Amino acid sequence: MKYLVYIFCFTVILSCNSKVEESDTKEEVSKAKVYDMYEPSEMANLMNEFYAENLKIKNEILAGNIPKEFPTDFLKIHTAELSNFKTRNAKFEAFSNLYIVAEQEVFNTESNIPVQERFNNAIGVCISCHQTECTGPIPRIQKLLIK
Ligand code: HEC
Repeated sequence: MKYLVYIFCFTVILSCNSKVEESDTKEEVSKAKVYDMYEPSEMANLMNEFYAENLKIKNEILAGNIPKEFPTDFLKIHTAELSNFKTRNAKFEAFSNLYIVAEQEVFNTESNIPVQERFNNAIGVCISCHQTECTGPIPRIQKLLIK
């Protein structure tokens, strides 16, 4: 049984790199299934929080509001535990720093760069890191970009 669980986890991790989601609904269904059986890592939970927070920020921007407060939870990217088999390598650290700097820029009220552009830049860092680590969620992350 233990052995089977290992195989299952391994499949989940592999799917992180190869899965290309066609639609949100399909993804939600497959996700619900997976979550019945394995505990998401602290990092996976944090990432889902990133997604939700950035969706809120996007809607604020589209409504013409200026996002004011940088969610300090974002800094947990430096400490959250990753799933098994994954380690924080130098690339991961570099992208984490880039991401935090880009996200902080979204909340820089002194900036001369349009807020949409700063927001898309931060989402661009999410995508860049995912290209090196975990390509599965990229189609979903791309939906955060403001067109
Ligand atoms: C520094 C690299 C890096 C950055 C930046 C990054 N991610 Fe991730 N993301 C990862 C890794 C690695 C995982 C896999 C985590 C694990 O399995 O422990 C992941 C997982 C995810 C997942 C899947 C979570 C799950 O339920 O399995 C989503 C969704 C996600 N990221 C969205 C985002 C969004 C949105 C952003 C930007 C706001 C972002 N990521 C920024 C590296 C990154």
